[in-house]
Amino acid sequence: MRETVLFILLTGVIAIARADDCQPLNVGHGSVVCVCNATYCDSVGRTGLPDPGQFLSYVSSKTGSRLVKSRGQFQKNSTGAALRITLNPSQKYQRIKGFGGAMTDAAAMNILSLSSGAQDQLLRQYFSPDGIEYRFVRVPMASCDFSTRLYTYADTPDDYSLQNFTLTEEDIHMKIPLLQRAQALSAQPLNLFASAWSAPAWLKTNGALIGKGSLKGKPGGKEHKTWAQYYIRFLEEYGKYNLSFWGLTSGNEPTAGEMTNYSFQALGFTPETQRDWIALDLGPELHSSSFPQTRLMILDDNRLLLPHWAQVVLSEVQAARYVHGIGFHWYLNNLAPPDVTLTATHHLYPEYFLFATEACSGWNPLDRGVRLGSWDRAEDYAHDIIQDLNNYVTGWTDWNLALNQDGGPNWVKNFVDSPIIVDPSKDVFYKQPTFYSMAHFSKFLWEGSQRVGVSYSQHTSLEISVYIRPDASAVLIVLNRSEEEMQFEVWDQTLGFLSERAPAHSILTLLWSRR
Ligand SMILES: *[C@@H]1O[C@H](CO)[C@@H](O)[C@H](O)[C@H]1NC(C)=O
Ligand SMILES: *[C@@H]1O[C@H](CO)[C@@H](O)[C@H](O)[C@H]1NC(C)=O
Ligand SMILES: *[C@@H]1O[C@H](CO)[C@@H](O)[C@H](O)[C@H]1NC(C)=O
Ligand SMILES: *[C@@H]1O[C@H](CO)[C@@H](O)[C@H](O)[C@H]1NC(C)=O
Ligand SMILES: *[C@@H]1O[C@H](CO)[C@@H](O)[C@H](O)[C@H]1NC(C)=O
Ligand SMILES: *[C@@H]1O[C@H](CO)[C@@H](O)[C@H](O)[C@H]1NC(C)=O
Repeated sequence: MRETVLFILLTGVIAIARADDCQPLNVGHGSVVCVCNATYCDSVGRTGLPDPGQFLSYVSSKTGSRLVKSRGQFQKNSTGAALRITLNPSQKYQRIKGFGGAMTDAAAMNILSLSSGAQDQLLRQYFSPDGIEYRFVRVPMASCDFSTRLYTYADTPDDYSLQNFTLTEEDIHMKIPLLQRAQALSAQPLNLFASAWSAPAWLKTNGALIGKGSLKGKPGGKEHKTWAQYYIRFLEEYGKYNLSFWGLTSGNEPTAGEMTNYSFQALGFTPETQRDWIALDLGPELHSSSFPQTRLMILDDNRLLLPHWAQVVLSEVQAARYVHGIGFHWYLNNLAPPDVTLTATHHLYPEYFLFATEACSGWNPLDRGVRLGSWDRAEDYAHDIIQDLNNYVTGWTDWNLALNQDGGPNWVKNFVDSPIIVDPSKDVFYKQPTFYSMAHFSKFLWEGSQRVGVSYSQHTSLEISVYIRPDASAVLIVLNRSEEEMQFEVWDQTLGFLSERAPAHSILTLLWSRR
């Protein structure tokens, strides 16, 4: 990032204008998208620490700011603001694992629909030290709704020994090369985790990839065993391309295939059958494979199912011993308050991490598909991430890394939104407001950052989360969705007071050194 112009605002805060600002495009959905092409993209750049006694502030807002950086000074005396936010670093909560998105078939096709220069820009935006430094990528095992055809890796009927297990052209020519490029751009090893939507039709009660159906037979039986071995074969095949997996989920949205006649790929499990399959098949297979360190996340379905699902699976030691975390999705969150789902689960099973494995905008039938420049959706993301993190969640995974302007491709037309929308006809991509919501967290909350306590001098409608990073610097994230008019100050006993203002409809990340 080049810092070209310095000017001092009346508040005493120095704003730094940049040569690589957002190229805004407003199509009338509340705010702007930033337009990027093969030679140009606004970029947050590297975010070093400010000098001792100073703080950095990054703001994105409905009025069009995108990670606009400014610098300020801690003061010895209180500024007198009515709202004082006091850090309490001795109150320690969970540590962060990280943030990311999903390399679906659709995401890969969309990225590859651009020129190679624009592809590089896009991957750089997500993964490089100049971009927002995603650490996690969810990788669907075979097809899901965001594919252009139905397939698994073992569609030869009765292939119980998986002799004909084979990766497809979507893996070999699309997802794998992009994951390798993403890895090469990333300063640290990417944490990949895999999720399967459906087992091969011949292993299933309904003989199809879609609809209501589960594995034939019982946990411990040959279908369940083969389905566990399929996971190991997947890890082996990706390993041949030097892609190793940090984790796995036990399968995408098991309730979809259990309770409903789903219109796309699904595989039903109840918490009981998932528990027994892990105890008898997946757990032992993984443990005795070449990948025993792979972290296993259960559920991978809406948090509405917590804590019940976790109680069923984790109360049985034969299953619990193979499990590391609990993955969950954000759909139907309105019906599932975070304290009685997430925090309750954390308190029951503190040794298992909570991790958000899927979320997207534009899934609701009343507000469907892509909405270029929607600030409401940026607030939805930031609100949900803060709520999750303040309830013991350790990371948050967005859904498709990139979609086209229809919100696809998706073979059942289950179109949704994405932080990056491509327009191959112009060889450009649009960075949505949600991209910047992700950035306010992913760029600053390094792995190992620990959430700490915070208290307020009065009630506030600001949504806030505070962290101490492994290098002892502090990160404070503020979301202002309200109409309340108020300045605030932050009190860090080691440094004094900082004075800030969260503009209307904004997301703010503050950063300072505590050494
Ligand atoms: C790429 O975007 C930059 C900035 O908007 C613009 O100056 C340049 O002409 C664009 N390049 C192409 C090939 O359109
Ligand atoms: C800070 O407060 C003290 C005591 O109220 C006062 O004497 C001092 O002048 C103040 N310092 C500044 C820089 O305002
Ligand atoms: C499955 O694999 C076997 C052994 O490699 C091979 O002979 C057979 O043709 C394959 N079948 C299909 C349907 O691909
Ligand atoms: C995998 O990595 C090793 C060691 O870094 C390298 O020698 C090998 O060529 C790589 N293989 C592939 C398929 O990229
Ligand atoms: C399930 O839905 C499909 C269409 O997606 C329909 O053809 C089929 O009849 C339905 N099955 C049941 C049992 O409702
Ligand atoms: C939050 O936004 C409102 C407008 O929506 C603004 O009036 C207020 O000053 C902001 N709050 C803070 C604490 O800056």
